[in-house]
Amino acid sequence: MYKWNRRAAFLFALLAGAAAAQNHYSGVGRPATPAEIAAWDIDVRADFTGLPKGSGTVAQGQDLWDRKCASCHGFFGESNEVFPPVIGGTKPEDVKRGRVASLVESNDQRTTMMKLSRISTLWDYIRRAMPWNEPKSLSVDEVYAVTAYILNMAELVPADYTLNDRNIRDAQAKLPNRDGLRPFPGLSDVRGKPDVKNTACMKDCIKGEARIVSSYPASARDTHGNLAEQNRLVGPVRGVVTIAGAAKSGTVVASAGSALVRKHGCQLCHGITSRVVGPSLREIGQRYAGDVGAAARLVATVRAGGSGNWGNIPMPPQLAIAQGDIESMVLWLLSGAF
Ligand code: HEC
Ligand code: HEC
Repeated sequence: MYKWNRRAAFLFALLAGAAAAQNHYSGVGRPATPAEIAAWDIDVRADFTGLPKGSGTVAQGQDLWDRKCASCHGFFGESNEVFPPVIGGTKPEDVKRGRVASLVESNDQRTTMMKLSRISTLWDYIRRAMPWNEPKSLSVDEVYAVTAYILNMAELVPADYTLNDRNIRDAQAKLPNRDGLRPFPGLSDVRGKPDVKNTACMKDCIKGEARIVSSYPASARDTHGNLAEQNRLVGPVRGVVTIAGAAKSGTVVASAGSALVRKHGCQLCHGITSRVVGPSLREIGQRYAGDVGAAARLVATVRAGGSGNWGNIPMPPQLAIAQGDIESMVLWLLSGAF
């Protein structure tokens, strides 16, 4: 009921928008017809809302796959040419458990079948996007057929299987990673509700007033590595440190150091652990570990250049680098965090 209301409200808004647009731009355009809206409104949801009636067999799907999909995805869905393989990487135990073990245990390549948790996603995606060179060219029955064949290649259904709008729930219950979907709180989490009305307080908020907060769960913060080393390396505002436990001030600056060292070409002469023209960054860090005045001295040395401390080759002065960057790099190499 709730879903239906949302759809109705959405269509209403669409039509109302079209009407309003007509008032503003009379004589320009026309409201979309119901048939045009229906052609566009094809999403299939996880609970199968929007799924059209139809059916297709594994055999029909194989024929279709070989003609229209295999050129890019391989005859067994194994090809790595245009995209990671569609099939592979799942085991019978995964099917029993509903969670693909290798997703958690290793960083090996991931196939569609390993990740897929909702069959509606597969169905919807093929219908709207594949074949890549001819999207939306498949009939509804063809989408059922090719989906059935993909399930068959993944050894989830037998060769004489027919997939249709009624038994698709049973097929969902066989997906190896059906329990792999984790709810992820919205980034604009306003007391549990999305901020669709744009009423959230943005500044000078009264205590307790709904406000936008970024709410990556702690477990997901460093999924993409440490953002402080990747974002906004120039200027006073760094990317937030996303390595667990490192969010103390000071570490923020220091951890940006490794990216700065790459950016400013220090590694042309300093390996992280190996000598190149100059000493390795690690041995510099080790030599000055525990030396309270070292940071300030080394910042000055990097700026002005130095010689005689490590050998005969001098360290050239670094005149074009912002002071903050030099400080970050020195703090980082004294932190020994590499
Ligand atoms: C011309 C090459 C080509 C053909 C033909 C083709 N695909 Fe694809 N397919 C792709 C590419 C490229 C992607 C990745 C697209 C992207 O992510 O933007 C893809 C992605 C997919 C995915 C999603 C994989 C994932 O894990 O996200 C599925 C499923 C899929 N194709 C099925 C099919 C089916 C079924 C057919 C035949 C009806 C087909 N493809 C034909 C190139 C092709
Ligand atoms: C052209 C080569 C070269 C480049 C580029 C270079 N260095 Fe050096 N660096 C050296 C040499 C050689 C030494 C050893 C100097 C000495 O013996 O005192 C050195 C020494 C150092 C020292 C130790 C100084 C001391 O007194 O112990 C630090 C710190 C340092 N470099 C940081 C950097 C940083 C940061 C960068 C990038 C901005 C950088 N270096 C770029 C060649 C280089």
